Amino acid sequence: LDDPAADPFAVARRAADRIAELTGVERHDLALTLGSGWGRAADLIGETTHTIPATEVPGFSKPALEGHVGTLRSVALPGGRRALVIGARTHYYEGHGVRRVVHSVRTAAAAGASVMILTNGAGGIKEHWQPGTPVLISDHINLTADSPLEGATFIDLTDLYSARLRGIARSVEPTLDEGVYCQFRGPHYETPAEVQMAKAIGGHIVGMSTALEAIAARQAGMEVLGMSLITNLAAGIQQTPLSHEEVIEAGRAAEPVISKLLADIVQAV
Ligand code: 6GU
Repeated sequence: LDDPAADPFAVARRAADRIAELTGVERHDLALTLGSGWGRAADLIGETTHTIPATEVPGFSKPALEGHVGTLRSVALPGGRRALVIGARTHYYEGHGVRRVVHSVRTAAAAGASVMILTNGAGGIKEHWQPGTPVLISDHINLTADSPLEGATFIDLTDLYSARLRGIARSVEPTLDEGVYCQFRGPHYETPAEVQMAKAIGGHIVGMSTALEAIAARQAGMEVLGMSLITNLAAGIQQTPLSHEEVIEAGRAAEPVISKLLADIVQAV
């Protein structure tokens, strides 16, 4: 993937073939990327039949960050469907390039997934969102100044975060709020002024992932559901300084509730 001459879709094809070889599963129907706080959902959506260290699959690198796990899991859902659960997110701020960031999404598409569920832990701009609140992503603003698309690939991003899937999520949990997700590069959190900018341009959630992955999922023809766990309010909205520990702790506290919610949504999708 680091070789500009390499075809990232061919690497994704090889990755999907490797997953099929290791699991004996020819086709995964949907895929989930589990961000901070969402990790336990994998145990609730079905039976994990295979856990693969990401390092055994072409194109994946090892995330060394607390709160992130470096595995791919094949999960058998009740009713016969199969989910590919991606616990190995490569973040844009790691600096390995956008191809690595979206490789898991392209691999999921190559493995047959038609629905891509992207989750993350993020900061909230709406003051009434308590830490621990899950929210649906209704749209995004990509502030990375980058794109997973290379060359003259002009694709439409209308309804990127599927209204149909958001409707299904709301049928499971009618109180789910939604908001526009702003992907910043990170890894520093935003300044209070940047948070005010995000608010002024129509953002409600600030984070460091998801938007680039959603674009790649659309390019691959997948339907996208995006959900954020609000782990904290954004800088300047909350009065105390932000810390990674606070984010991890909020994720841990919310994990049982939001994992069950996500499992119920997967069942309904
Ligand atoms: Cl406040 N900002 C960003 N970019 N990511 C976050 C966050 C804030 N809180 C959790 N993740």
